Amino acid sequence: MTEYSEYISHMKELAALSSSAALLQWDQEVYMPIKGSQFRAEQLALLSTLIHKYASSDKLGHYLESHLEDSKLNEAARINIRRSKEDYDKAVKIPASLVEEISRAQSEAFQAWIKARKENDFKIFKPYLAQIIQLQRKYAEALGTSPDPYETLMDLYDPGIKLNAVNETFEKLIDGIHKILQAMDGRFKQHLPKGDFPSDLQKEFGEKICKSLGFDFKAGRQDISVHPFTIGLHPRDVRITTRIDEKSLAYMLWSTIHECGHALYEQGLPAEMHGLPLAQPASISIHESQSRLYENNLGRSKVFINYWFPEMQEIFPDALNSYDSETYFRAINRIEPNLIRTEADELHYHLHIYIRFLIERDLMHGKLDVSEVKERWNALYKEHLGVTVSDDVHGILQDVHWSHGSIGYFPTYTLGSLYAAQFMEEAYAQIPNLHNSLEKGKYTGLLQWLREHIHSKGRSLSSDQLCQKICGKSLDASAFISYSEKKYLH
Ligand code: CO
Repeated sequence: MTEYSEYISHMKELAALSSSAALLQWDQEVYMPIKGSQFRAEQLALLSTLIHKYASSDKLGHYLESHLEDSKLNEAARINIRRSKEDYDKAVKIPASLVEEISRAQSEAFQAWIKARKENDFKIFKPYLAQIIQLQRKYAEALGTSPDPYETLMDLYDPGIKLNAVNETFEKLIDGIHKILQAMDGRFKQHLPKGDFPSDLQKEFGEKICKSLGFDFKAGRQDISVHPFTIGLHPRDVRITTRIDEKSLAYMLWSTIHECGHALYEQGLPAEMHGLPLAQPASISIHESQSRLYENNLGRSKVFINYWFPEMQEIFPDALNSYDSETYFRAINRIEPNLIRTEADELHYHLHIYIRFLIERDLMHGKLDVSEVKERWNALYKEHLGVTVSDDVHGILQDVHWSHGSIGYFPTYTLGSLYAAQFMEEAYAQIPNLHNSLEKGKYTGLLQWLREHIHSKGRSLSSDQLCQKICGKSLDASAFISYSEKKYLH
């Protein structure tokens, strides 16, 4: 066996271990009986130790070191080695003691966050948040990807990302969004219909939409969970989940389309390279660009609603009879400021993210103290959304991310939307008669284009390189702004 094929089998074993852990996590959310949680934690802890051993083994490190510039290897092999080396270097830079300290602090913080939410009192969570921030600063220092600790953390989710570029992009985006909101003048105020949407009919309809978008049910499945998510075990085994509320069709349908977008990316990664970086997603931001492209740019578009609304009316006649597709289009895109990120519309959503970005950034830079965080949060909501935060559960305690130690993750949601708008603009320019196909409910052309330009590329390029290659320019808020102007002001 050549050394390269030894590397491949090592990586495939690592992928088998990680996907087994992922499957156990999936089961935990979907099927596991509540009393199984203690034993499940033991199983997952063992697997995560084994995964860490595999990912940081000396043998792997030695191989990567000596073959990094090996000219006998082909281009694809060299990309795999380069990316694996980046991962390896990160894995070995973090002392095991810090990994342990962080994992303990996170599970304590998560418990405290749950308790704080129950009692609607941020004070309970505050000391744990302070500890998370302090440990994340230590973690960033150990990694040392950038002299800026916040940039180092963002880089974990979007390799190569630059804080300056994100600052500038946000400023332009937030300014653009405020201008559109001011110009809207009472448009898009329709409410979604209330009524009965039986859950079996909803599930069936959701699956039909996924199928039409290109989700392969022989290489994946859909189940029910409290929070919808996607797990790709392998391009031939991708799991999505949804949640059904019998009083509302919209929640199930658009979260299903969102997860389906994630799943199409996972199913489109090159299966023959499974376990290697070339079969991994480019970044969390690009992953999110795929879900948001399907959910918003396609799923909430007029052409999509026009096609599907008659069928929706047939399935749910009582609830939808008093609507036509134009009114439904306006209702599904209803614009209104609110307190909760996950319930926000397409425009206000980014104001929610911007607030979290400013707070995280300033916390990591030491310009904001945890003792001032709640006041800052409430003031920013007043300033940007014009809403008064009623209590902690509807304010600073609403998201789980910080309790999990995820600092630097929030921006990927907004970047995902911006990339989605840039990619969709290019798709319209490059795919012949795309609009006509979408009018007929035909989505294969769009999927093939995404497969060719994004999914099949794996992790060969960073988010920025990928965007440059497809759109001829870097991340830029203007595509999202002009998409929004066209949709909401015309
Ligand atoms: Co998502």
